[in-house]
Amino acid sequence: CGIVGYVGERSAVDVVMGGLRRLEYRGYDSGGVALVADGTIASAKKAGKLVNLDAELEAAPLPHATTGIGHTRWATHGGPTDRNAHPHLDDTARVAIVHNGIIENFAELREEIERSGRELVSETDSEVVAFLVAEQLAAGAALPDAVRTVARRLEGAFTLVICDAQTPGVVVGARRNSPLVVGRGDGENFLGSDVAAFIEYTREAVELGQDQVVVITADDITVTDFDGAPAETTTFTVDWDLSAAQKDGYEWYMLKEIVEQPKAVADTLLGRHTQDGRLQLDEMRLSDDELRNVDKIVAIACGTSYYAAMVAKYAIEHWTRIPVEVELASEFRYRDPILDQSTLVVTISQSGETMDTLMAIRYARQQKARVLSICNTNGSTIPRESDAVIYTHAGPEVAVASTKAFLAQIVACYVLGLYLAQVKGAKYGDEIARILDDLIATPAAIQRMLDEADVVRKIAADLNGARSFIFLGRHVGYPVALEGALKLKELAYLHAEGFAAGELKHGPIAVIEEGVPVFVVVPPPGRNEVHEKVVSNIQEVRARGARTIVLAEDGDESVVPYADHLIWLPKVPTLLQPLVATVPLQIFACEFAAQLGHDVDQPRNLAKSVTVE
Ligand code: G6P
Repeated sequence: CGIVGYVGERSAVDVVMGGLRRLEYRGYDSGGVALVADGTIASAKKAGKLVNLDAELEAAPLPHATTGIGHTRWATHGGPTDRNAHPHLDDTARVAIVHNGIIENFAELREEIERSGRELVSETDSEVVAFLVAEQLAAGAALPDAVRTVARRLEGAFTLVICDAQTPGVVVGARRNSPLVVGRGDGENFLGSDVAAFIEYTREAVELGQDQVVVITADDITVTDFDGAPAETTTFTVDWDLSAAQKDGYEWYMLKEIVEQPKAVADTLLGRHTQDGRLQLDEMRLSDDELRNVDKIVAIACGTSYYAAMVAKYAIEHWTRIPVEVELASEFRYRDPILDQSTLVVTISQSGETMDTLMAIRYARQQKARVLSICNTNGSTIPRESDAVIYTHAGPEVAVASTKAFLAQIVACYVLGLYLAQVKGAKYGDEIARILDDLIATPAAIQRMLDEADVVRKIAADLNGARSFIFLGRHVGYPVALEGALKLKELAYLHAEGFAAGELKHGPIAVIEEGVPVFVVVPPPGRNEVHEKVVSNIQEVRARGARTIVLAEDGDESVVPYADHLIWLPKVPTLLQPLVATVPLQIFACEFAAQLGHDVDQPRNLAKSVTVE
């Protein structure tokens, strides 16, 4: 969910709605605002995307106010209805709250409130908080104390942002395991689930720690723990501005972000290598000794980031000879994994907030493993809780389906892998310098894929009507196939599956029938052992009626006879092929979904940061 809070001199509804629009990628099942206006709470909320709330506010404008909160929801408890939308008010309409997370003990709290004869109206776990805070206020507590008292009683994960009709000019936030950052303005202050909420007004942000309560007024930001003891905070400056988070004339954020990939890759490499082909990681907080001691790497992530981890395994094992396990964050800590001080856990997350990944980090650290995270979001929770971090410099990613962050993650993993090899004094000295040179050249190769996007658009038009898709690849092409399929599932809501091409004959080939589109990522020919095997795999599916879309390196004539459609890829080393081969698959998914009339940036049922387990 996305959360905004504001106190200042501007129209709070404008600031809050603007913030919600930029946080809409965090959830778009419903939206709502609440304002403190002349001793009362004025609020509006609506199921569906924010345009519905916009229409509601236009039809029935709220009174002018300069203190307000807002919410855009990804439903967990209670369906996406008007009534379950946030903000929630208590039955005296004194307190309004917005919540992100899950309050695990809500049932018993709800029962307690109902026993006192008061009636809750929603099916959410969140509403109880409004009642509990109102109870404290009625008993004479000041708003910050009331919030702290209630926060101590809550179990689970929560960000809460709260205002009180009788405390104008104050908004209080509380966080445990869910994201919340503060924006420091001049005569105004902001709260947001991430900095996009207030980037239009300020780039100065304050990180909050675990179990903290923040009180903002127009001129003041006060942070304490849940008991009221003052807490230390860290301030940081956001290194991008509003223009980076705008569509820039593109029809979709996703298209804009696909186009930004050469820059995302170049920026992620920037300053991390020397002229003479060595890696330099000034931000590396793990010592060379600690890194030399690593005897196993466990790479952990979710969704698209997980596929970046799969790609990384091939490269890091090859360069460092350190075994790399790749694990879905949601599975990791439930299988009693083997970890110790010599294990390096590498987590990969665009948002830095994914709860599954965060929980994996906490578990790994309890087991004494070192945790290094690869992350795209400054000030987010995951880097805060890791021993070290390598930031991807992809810039803000707004479209729910990840694109430029994925490429930047692969690059950051490669930087890490090469750095480890260097620290270990690997015998691959020359190879490291060569790979680095090749990496530095990839933005141009990616640019070529963008310049040739029309080929892919034409294929999307030709395949119009197809309802099931298969993606095949081997070696690093295998995670690329999985990512191609995931993109299409996410955006087009169609059946799409990725397989290791060699595994096809062991089962999946049974689903091939006349006309099924099969995308095949062909490894570079030449020294590559699996190239010919993949070419045979293309023939196998084609013999069974598949319509083949083949991604192959320039000049690879061997595939031509078996390709119904061809997408040529620039010549790059095998390990770098994912950086070019993924691009047409992203474009295909985007085009195909748009062709079906879907909202490419905000696909149904999904959210960009999933802050529940
Ligand atoms: C969500 C998004 C995916 C993303 C995954 C991991 O499910 O919809 O696009 O890949 O989370 O997100 P992270 O921010 O941890 O990379």
